[in-house]
Amino acid sequence: MPMILYRTLIAAAAAVAIVLGGVMLNYATAQGGRPDVHFVPTPQQVVDRMLELAKIQPGDFLIDLGSGDGRIPITAAKRYGIKAMGIDIDPDRIKEANENAKKEGVTDKVSFKQANLFEEDISKANVITLYLLERLNAKLRLKLLSDLKPGSRVVSHAFSMGDWKPDTHELVDGRSVYLWTIPAKKAGAPVDRRGS
Ligand SMILES: C[S@@+](CC[C@H](N)C(=O)[O-])C[C@H]1O[C@@H](n2cnc3c(N)ncnc32)[C@H](O)[C@@H]1O
Repeated sequence: MPMILYRTLIAAAAAVAIVLGGVMLNYATAQGGRPDVHFVPTPQQVVDRMLELAKIQPGDFLIDLGSGDGRIPITAAKRYGIKAMGIDIDPDRIKEANENAKKEGVTDKVSFKQANLFEEDISKANVITLYLLERLNAKLRLKLLSDLKPGSRVVSHAFSMGDWKPDTHELVDGRSVYLWTIPAKKAGAPVDRRGS
C-alpha cells in the first residue's frame, strides 16, 4: 500500500475514534454517569415493612438512595404524610418517579433528583432507605455516619452493612430487611473508614 494512502487511513481511523469517544462521553454525561446497580423494584409488601421498621413519625424526612420508580418515597408520603425525596442517577427513573408521584397525588411532599447518590448532601434526612448491593452499602457507611444525625434510621432491603450489627433483621416474604440506628457521635471516637 502506498505510504500516502496508509497515512490517510490512519488519520481517518484516529478521527473516527476521537469523534466516537466524544459521542460516548457526551452520552455518559447526559445520563449523569453509569448506575452502580440496575433498577429492580422492591415489592410493595417489603416497602411497607421497611417503613414500619423505620417507625416513621410526623416531621421525619426520608431519602431513598437509588430511588428507581419512586415507590419508597411515594409510599412514605402517602401513608405517613411525611416529606420524602428520591435520588437516582438514571434520568428515565426520575421521569417515571415524578409521573408516579403525580398519579398518587403527592407532588407537594415528594421530590426526585437526578444525581449520584454518593455525592449528594443527605444530612437533612433522618430516615434513609436502600436497595443497592453489599459493596455499595459498605462504601456508604462513612457517609451515613458523618452526614446523619444520631438517632437517624437506615433501612436496607436485601443487603447488610458488613459487620454493622443491625437493630433488627427480619425476612419479609423471603427477603431480608435490616434496620440500623445511627449512634451518638462520641468525641475522639475512631472513625469507621472501612467503607471509604
Ligand atoms: C435495585 S434499584 C432500587 C429502586 C428502589 N429503591 C426500590 O427499592 O424499589 C437501584 C436503583 O439505584 C439507581 N442507582 C444505581 N447507582 C446509582 C448511583 N450511583 N447514584 C444514584 N442512583 C443510582 C439505579 O438507577 C436504580 O434505580
